[in-house]
Amino acid sequence: MSKVVITEVHGKVGLIRINRPEALNALNNEVVDGIGAAIDGFEADENIGCIVLTGNEKAFAAGADIGFMKDFDYMHAYKTDFITRNWERIKTTRKPVIAAVAGFALGGGCEMAMMCDMIFAADTAKFGQPEIRLGTMPGAGGTQRLPRGVGKAKAMDLCLTARMMDAAEAEKAGLVARIIPAEQLLDETLKAAATIAGFSLPVVMMIKESVNRAFESSLNEGLLFERRVFHSAFALEDQKEGMAAFVEKRKPAFRNC
Ligand code: HXC
Repeated sequence: MSKVVITEVHGKVGLIRINRPEALNALNNEVVDGIGAAIDGFEADENIGCIVLTGNEKAFAAGADIGFMKDFDYMHAYKTDFITRNWERIKTTRKPVIAAVAGFALGGGCEMAMMCDMIFAADTAKFGQPEIRLGTMPGAGGTQRLPRGVGKAKAMDLCLTARMMDAAEAEKAGLVARIIPAEQLLDETLKAAATIAGFSLPVVMMIKESVNRAFESSLNEGLLFERRVFHSAFALEDQKEGMAAFVEKRKPAFRNC
């Protein structure tokens, strides 16, 4: 049986590929546990500065695996802590994660992309939360992250009508950072990830943590958090190196400390 999650290292970038093409990368426990294990590995690897999560040209993921969960009852979902038990590893990693989305990102697939720090979309990407058609609702953050990404009106529209949104609409609405021609999606995403991984890792982590804080706090609390973290950045050797390199008109050599 082929591996449903494939990992590759590209320089300082860790790439995770979801690989269940026969089921449009539908997310079952094996896939989600595999993604979690891959993130554990990349998090522990000091060489890795950024992570990319992708699928294939047809699908990032067409949702949680419907066959896998169709016979769940309430007690099973509750006792096994469905979703919470293993899906949220993406959310807790301190290294940035870019979702490179081509084709379908539906239901849990759209939710998994939204757990990442940013989404780069191929011009073929299609986003949606069609759970309502199955007699259920988004359960991996769709009702919460989608309104934060695209606003209430579009989130209601997508979740309540089950319609799909193309890459252009998703970018216009703010869900997607960049649209890239499908054949260049992975190369361009890896390039951006390599740029990030070339910076000082502690600074990258501070920025990620601070931007995420914007969604968890009032403006004043968020600004205070940012100011304190900014002050702490003066403790970094990489800050001394980065500023000295600018003044000396040379490239900085960051050492992640
Ligand atoms: C299991 C899936 C699947 C899914 C596709 N497949 N999506 N299997 N779970 N979510 C399988 C199909 O059964 C089929 O298998 C194969 O992938 C190819 O799919 P087709 O339907 O033949 O392809 P196509 O006609 O191109 O249609 C593509 C599609 C459609 C529009 C994306 O597959 C579709 O509507 N899929 C379901 C999308 C969805 O409802 N997602 C939300 C899931 S609920 P066979 O063996 O027949 O070839 C969810 C809950 C989230 O995500 C809450 C917590 C995470």
